[in-house]
Amino acid sequence: MKKTMMSTYVRLLGFAKPMSRYAVPYFFYSVLHALFNTFTYTMIIPIIGTLFSEGYAFTPTYELPAIELNTECLDGVINYFYTLIFGTEFMTTRLLALLSAILIMCNVLSNAFRYLGSMTVETMRTRTLQRMRNEMFDRTMAMNVGYFSDQRKGDLMSKITSDVMVVQFCITNTLQVMFREPFLIFGYVAMMVNISWQLTLFSILYLPVVALIIGSIVKRLRHPAKKGQQHMGEMVSVMEESLSGVKAIKSYNAFSYISNKFHSINASMSNILLSMARKQQMASPMSEFLGITAISVVLVFGGSLVMKGLMTASGFVAYIAAFSQLTRPLRSFIDQFANINQGIAAGERIFSIIDAESSVQDREDAVALEEFKDKIEFNNISFSYDSSREVLHEVSFTVRKGETVALVGPSGGGKSTLSELIPRFYDPAVGEISIDGKPLSAYTQESLRAKMGIVSQDTILFNDSIRANIAMGREDATDEQIMAAAKIANAHDFIMQTEAGYDTNVGDRGMKLSGGQRQRLSIARAVLRNPEILILDEATSALDTESEKLVQEALTSLLEGRTSVVIAHRLSTIHNADRIIVIDSGRIAEQGTHSELMARNGIYAKLIEMQSLA
Ligand SMILES: Nc1ncnc2c1ncn2[C@@H]1O[C@H](COP(=O)(O)OP(=O)(O)O)[C@@H](O)[C@H]1O
Ligand SMILES: [Mg+2]
Repeated sequence: MKKTMMSTYVRLLGFAKPMSRYAVPYFFYSVLHALFNTFTYTMIIPIIGTLFSEGYAFTPTYELPAIELNTECLDGVINYFYTLIFGTEFMTTRLLALLSAILIMCNVLSNAFRYLGSMTVETMRTRTLQRMRNEMFDRTMAMNVGYFSDQRKGDLMSKITSDVMVVQFCITNTLQVMFREPFLIFGYVAMMVNISWQLTLFSILYLPVVALIIGSIVKRLRHPAKKGQQHMGEMVSVMEESLSGVKAIKSYNAFSYISNKFHSINASMSNILLSMARKQQMASPMSEFLGITAISVVLVFGGSLVMKGLMTASGFVAYIAAFSQLTRPLRSFIDQFANINQGIAAGERIFSIIDAESSVQDREDAVALEEFKDKIEFNNISFSYDSSREVLHEVSFTVRKGETVALVGPSGGGKSTLSELIPRFYDPAVGEISIDGKPLSAYTQESLRAKMGIVSQDTILFNDSIRANIAMGREDATDEQIMAAAKIANAHDFIMQTEAGYDTNVGDRGMKLSGGQRQRLSIARAVLRNPEILILDEATSALDTESEKLVQEALTSLLEGRTSVVIAHRLSTIHNADRIIVIDSGRIAEQGTHSELMARNGIYAKLIEMQSLA
């Protein structure tokens, strides 16, 4: 194993902490399992010996007991039933029955310990996976917003589900290999040496050849496994996209487009899986074939030892039984190398998620933003999503505490982008945004966002009750507070009309609500937070004129005394803003109050004119 692979592996095992809680009991269960298992096969010797009279068979030393003489003692009762069942071949049969009973008992014990051992592994497996998934999820959620492209979403989903599955077999199977199989192998080998060291020596020289051949077949599995995972990620993202876009697909009769897309990814993934399976499935027949060949060779060599009188026939039979058993742990030992490779490949992908660094970081000396006192300053901001095209170019302006600043302008101009820089969803490439003279990165992201209420164009609701959706991030809110917030957002009435009121489930992404209702819930969410800084990005765009009027009133009273950045699609709603900034193609085209801008007769005046015509 290469060094990096080793460290990945050790790190994966780290998720199984505390390892000792599982490894110690597993160790004991495995030793006991191996002990009783080997013993089970040892029982073959006296059994066969008895049948072939190799000195184990007893000549009856006394006559068939008179039943009346012995009924008092337990032995007599047992004798009586044996006599009934087995008839006159009493002594040999009794010995055989006794040996079989011991055989069964050993086997029961051996399997009981195996069960206990397996359950230890299962517990470890389940807990490890639980910890791993949680960590991946939490780390992912902590990433910067820009990290989540659509392509990456599918990739992440596939990693959190299927890669974790691959890793689990790697971790738990290696535990079995390290703590169980060696004991079994040791037990069998000890037994075999005891029967015939010559034959054992022969087998030991012989087995590595078999192992090497199987190993080389299994080795080539890692590469296609990686490619298979990649395709899996693509498939999941197409699936996710199609499921959430099912309405668009149907309304545009785009079924064949999306279905072709899915089918072609599915086909190339299947081909990879098939080529993987081909190699994988080859491993089993090959190793079985080699195993049988190995046994045959042993059969010939061992047979000659029996002929020469160097080994008893019963010993030979037991030897073959043990030898055939030996190939199993030995084979799984070898098979694990393939698993370890696959597991480590998956582990590396998992760690690529866990180790991903958010590009939006708190500075090391970041402090909590205790109180917003003075102003938010945009200082010469330039920004681009991908380095190819600038979305914002040298934007500078100031929002004083208590002011309402409106951003207007043609769509695609960069208004939403600009507003998303304030809670640090993204960091500008050039320039700096500061609050009270200190750059945003000087404050912890959590304290920064705690001061803000954001209502955006696309409302994000979760599959939960209306109450939980409003209280999001404020789990301590009382029912009265939630209701008051809903009333301000003009949502209370429609909520009361739903079947279960505040307990009504909103469905997946709020599917069961209308666009306007969803938007009012997200306004209620912001109201409940009672934030010092409000960011409204076309917060009323999905409302009909009637409810917009009502929500607008609510928002106006909400804006009172707060600092806010408002992006409005309907310009009539921002007449009263302290300042209006017109953003066009990522630049500030003009700014001023409504009347100043009207007098200027520029872009703003033109936009107003267009809207009043409409
Ligand atoms: N997540 C994103 N990734 C890449 N480009 C984006 C992203 N979001 C917006 N854009 C681009 O940035 C530009 C400004 O978008 P946006 O800020 O939403 O404009 P506005 O809100 O003024 O309509 C647009 O050209 C848009 O295509
Ligand atoms: Mg926008």
